[in-house]
Amino acid sequence: MSNRNLFTRRQALMLSSTAAASLALGGLPGWAFGASATAPSLPIPTLIEARNSEQVTLTLQKTRHRFGAGAAVAATGISSSYLGPVVRVRSGETVPFRAENRLDEETTLHWHGLLIPSHVDGGPHNTIKPGGVWTPELPVKQPPATTWFHPHPHGNTARQVYGGLAGMMIVSDGEDRERGLPQTYGVDDIPIVLQDKRFGRNGELVYQPTMMDLMHGFRGDTLLVNGAINPVANIPAGFVRLRLLNAANARNFDLRFSDRRPFFVVASDAGYLPEPVEVRRLVIAPAERYEILVNVTDGRPVDLVTAPDTLGGMGPGMMMQMGRLSSSAAETQTLMRLKPDPLLPAKVTRLPRTLTTLASPDIPSVVQWRTFVLNPMQGMNTAAMGGMSASGGATDQSGDHDHAAAAQMMSINGRPFSMGRVDVTTKLGTSEIWEIVSAAMAHPFHMHGASFRILSNNGRKPRAEQSGWKDVILVEDQAEILVRFDSPAPPKMPFMYHCHILEHEDHGMMGQFAVV
Ligand code: C2O
Ligand code: CU
Ligand code: CU
Repeated sequence: MSNRNLFTRRQALMLSSTAAASLALGGLPGWAFGASATAPSLPIPTLIEARNSEQVTLTLQKTRHRFGAGAAVAATGISSSYLGPVVRVRSGETVPFRAENRLDEETTLHWHGLLIPSHVDGGPHNTIKPGGVWTPELPVKQPPATTWFHPHPHGNTARQVYGGLAGMMIVSDGEDRERGLPQTYGVDDIPIVLQDKRFGRNGELVYQPTMMDLMHGFRGDTLLVNGAINPVANIPAGFVRLRLLNAANARNFDLRFSDRRPFFVVASDAGYLPEPVEVRRLVIAPAERYEILVNVTDGRPVDLVTAPDTLGGMGPGMMMQMGRLSSSAAETQTLMRLKPDPLLPAKVTRLPRTLTTLASPDIPSVVQWRTFVLNPMQGMNTAAMGGMSASGGATDQSGDHDHAAAAQMMSINGRPFSMGRVDVTTKLGTSEIWEIVSAAMAHPFHMHGASFRILSNNGRKPRAEQSGWKDVILVEDQAEILVRFDSPAPPKMPFMYHCHILEHEDHGMMGQFAVV
């Protein structure tokens, strides 16, 4: 039997389970798989090589995009119909960008993971008016890493990112061939942007969070990879590098391969691990990046799948209240298929050994210890509570009503975010230990303009794949991180630290720090 037959059979199975689910739940997007028996190929974003101080233009725009087999629907994209290009920058170069806002609302463009000064960071203070242009020059100077960019307007980040405004940025030092890493863009070095969405009856993107959605973070029942549903990537039958980015608003993906083959983590958010770390599953929280190597020298097709997100709940029973989501969210779901193609030359057929050197966290250098408690409930008033308990089957209208009540219900250390308040001031060139405490549910904590090492998470030493440099940490309970402050941020233009569940961020679970 050919692979194609196998695939068709699998699609047919999926179609029938989707149909069954629609019957049971009163309408999942049947259009998503449509009548088409062929899976889409994995979309590979255009690669922009930023070289020799040439300006890179990124246009934030309203578009129409085809997500599934149905018609094109309203979306947004960055110089693209959905999501953005991949921009590759060289460490040591200063890259002039031109961000054009062709939306009809204010936005910003934040460089998530770049260690650059705050005035070019693109946080909520660097607003771009509708029709406006922002031209920051980014002095890139940091170890190679997979980073990304997305809007960060005050109170409106979740909706803009959900609509499609996000792209990947690769910081390179040009040494990957020497490291023995796959480095042919789109062939054996592939950007993988993971998201979950809700689609309406006509295939339109739906974003109308109820109070319950705000509490959990907005989750969808349909998974996208680079904007496509269940795509197939034709790859050479060697080692393939996947640059994984979780660009979902709130969902954690619990990744593994359908045949349970091991794979190798080579980098986390802010740089390489000393050597490949063998795993069979990998949890990737919102905004996290991991680079993995997958061995497909056996020539067999394999699916990248995710187990249910068990970290999204606020306790037993809450998942059930998520209504139609509870069924699909309770099963393993397929993200995409890797299909080795014998006609593509495999350039990397061995696992690299050493990628970088990594000193242990420099604890003696620490000058300060601070604690941050992330709380989604604090500040919530009784009206909002009433809205929440009634929202099991909330209509869109009550969703809007809840939204207003929820505006600033979330907090860090009891204080909801305020643009005019600097919460923390640190000293440039120093290190601090930050203790992060999660209340009510797991929160992915992120900092701008700094990267950190995990000292402990849930009272345990970090797993090997989490022991390198990072800028996001999923905190289930309590964690300690050692943060380096090497990028300046005057009090008038502070950096952000926040929960990267975007609904939490927008509703107050964010603070500001200056680095002076
Ligand atoms: Cu992904 Cu404040 O950012
Ligand atoms: Cu960021
Ligand atoms: Cu949160």
